[in-house]
Amino acid sequence: MPRQILVTAALPYANGHIHLGHLVEYIQTDIWVRFQKLRGNRCIYICADDTHGTAIMIRARQEGRSEEALIADMQRHHTADFAGFDIEFDNYGSTNSPENRELCNEIWKRLRAADLVVERDVVQLYDVKAGTFLADRFVKGTCPVCNLPDQYGDSCDNGHTYSPAELKDPISTLSGTTPEVRRAPHLFIELEKLHSFLAEWIDADDHLQSEVANYLKGHFLHEPLKAWDVSRPAPYFGFEIPDAPGNYWYVWFDAPIGYMASLWEWCKRNSEKLEDWWPRQQLPLAAGEGRGEGEHDGREIHHFIGKDIQYFHCLFWPGMLKTAGYRLPTKVHIHGFLTVDGAKMSKTKGTFIRGATYLQHLNPSYLRYYYAAKLGSRLDDLDLNLDEFVSKVNSDLVGKVVNLASRTAKFVEATGLSNTYPADGGLFAAAAAEAEVIAAAYEDCDYNQAMRRIMALADKANVYVDEHAPWKLKKDAARAGEMQDVCTVALNLFRQLAVYLAPVLPRLAAQTGELLGRPIAHWDDAQAPLIGTPVAKFTHMLNRVEKDQVTAMIEESKEQAPATAPVVVPGSPDHVAVVPRSPDRGTPPTAGLPSSQNLETSGPEGGTVGRPSHNPADSHNQSADSGDALAAEPLAAQISIDDFAKVDLRVARVVAAEDVAEAKKLLKLTLSLGGDQQRTVFAGIKEAYKPEQLVGRLVVMVANLAPRQMKFGLSEGMVVATGPGGKEVYLLAADSGAVPGQRVH
Ligand code: 2FM
Repeated sequence: MPRQILVTAALPYANGHIHLGHLVEYIQTDIWVRFQKLRGNRCIYICADDTHGTAIMIRARQEGRSEEALIADMQRHHTADFAGFDIEFDNYGSTNSPENRELCNEIWKRLRAADLVVERDVVQLYDVKAGTFLADRFVKGTCPVCNLPDQYGDSCDNGHTYSPAELKDPISTLSGTTPEVRRAPHLFIELEKLHSFLAEWIDADDHLQSEVANYLKGHFLHEPLKAWDVSRPAPYFGFEIPDAPGNYWYVWFDAPIGYMASLWEWCKRNSEKLEDWWPRQQLPLAAGEGRGEGEHDGREIHHFIGKDIQYFHCLFWPGMLKTAGYRLPTKVHIHGFLTVDGAKMSKTKGTFIRGATYLQHLNPSYLRYYYAAKLGSRLDDLDLNLDEFVSKVNSDLVGKVVNLASRTAKFVEATGLSNTYPADGGLFAAAAAEAEVIAAAYEDCDYNQAMRRIMALADKANVYVDEHAPWKLKKDAARAGEMQDVCTVALNLFRQLAVYLAPVLPRLAAQTGELLGRPIAHWDDAQAPLIGTPVAKFTHMLNRVEKDQVTAMIEESKEQAPATAPVVVPGSPDHVAVVPRSPDRGTPPTAGLPSSQNLETSGPEGGTVGRPSHNPADSHNQSADSGDALAAEPLAAQISIDDFAKVDLRVARVVAAEDVAEAKKLLKLTLSLGGDQQRTVFAGIKEAYKPEQLVGRLVVMVANLAPRQMKFGLSEGMVVATGPGGKEVYLLAADSGAVPGQRVH
């Protein structure tokens, strides 16, 4: 039966850039998908940005733009980075899509109908000034157990754990104010009702690697499953729950549904039906029923994820799918984390490397091959050893593979390949016979094994070339036919390697197709040699990698490290944290899983909000900034420091913002300078900002400007902004930590 395979990789958070830790997964998955396509299976690779949650909301607020603008911008970065690494998605969507909202609604109704949703009160700290509930990591105070000062809201450095409401003298790190304890109703899914189904599913049909199944059994399923808190009260960037107004689905509720939503987008574009790719099961299903229903109709669903988020994918997600009546995943493939030179990626050491930074220095094929050579089918961490990276790429890819073609192709440019396949001592047949063994290794995600077998074939091919030395035959015109035969064998052995490596090295496969006049289109292309075909002029295929390039990349990554900026990461039950976290997807305790059902997952590196940047291009090569703005408005005449001091610039918080209906450009802002000091300012920023985007954010105002009577009221100052005007107006922001009333010096 032909296979029809839907493949997903975890949806990256939209508030951080793609780094080499992320790329372990996206490259691993891309290789698997390319392999399936090469085998002739129908296979699609679906992904999307994971866009919801508090971290995005806060970052957008601090950058003075809408969440939608922020996530659209980040999606452009993500898709460019992925394309740079030859990662080819069939659809790259967003969890903030109409399709996702519709599917969330549908699945939610099913969960309600199955009586799995209950309401319970949750006590949380609320920052009145910032207008938001606070994640544990957004609160600091004194440990209620040992009185250690300056500790986060959930645990102290001495290992005591507590609830934020117990913290002594709590202070919000968002606004510097004392938060209030507030009680809010949350909606929970009673997972325990699915216990027996989940216990059965994780053990059945090879859905999970055995170490994962054992871990889940030992750490979660041995006791009643805790109910899962899936709602958050406003303000929250996400989808409002239709039957619980003012509450939003927690980011982890709608994220996996985003797989389906992105698939649905692909289906719409390609006139396919969603249910053909994500089949529905009959409802209602009682616990334990219908587990394997329809699973053997050739339609498969494969998720690739990191070990930090297996709980969500192996317990919550199957539970949701089963209740909603959708096909369960055929397999969840779980990989380990990335370390660099044996340690966690580090910003200060420059080993926290963004994809875009890598691409400025190094060829993506190097990393694809290196990762493939190190990836097995277990959950072991993958170490990017930078010296080994250089030597492996040079010795394997350049020295063994490309060298076969570069040493022989030029000798047959004029003649093409021989018309009959010469005797080669059984080399081609032996390599062809390896096809299924190598395929099985790819299928099992045991790429390390596949690469070892391919390189063993490369070694044999090189011995053949060394022994037959076409460069010597070339000197003797009488042996031209012999030389053509040797090169015919060498180039066919090279082509076999290019076929086997095609999932890993699509560029090399394409170059090989051009060199030998026959594109590599199918795994079986390694079964029959080419004969009598022309050989194109050999053009360079892959450079050696130099250590200097790696060093330059590390140095550039060091420069990107913010000195002390806090990092906001989504994903904990409270959504956010402000401590620098594991740069990959976090380093959960034992076996890569959270130690309890009080789950914390980690987030992206790029949630840095300590140094907000209005312009995403800021993160790029600064020397590329154009001089147009300065040319358009040259610097003003010099002033003294006393002149500057006359302008009293103050940090202010926007406490209210409203449209001035009669004015084309004006918004009326109420600005707080702290205490009871408020100012009304009419600002010409209507085309660039919506009032609701502004409430709560910090701006800079000229506080001692003479008031001006306008048609709509008295304007008592000016907010400071830049840009040419119209839609391109950019308010200046103060970084987190500044408080209203502070003077700008
Ligand atoms: O851990 C993460 O990066 C999450 N954004 C993954 C979500 S995967 C899926 F559930 F959407």
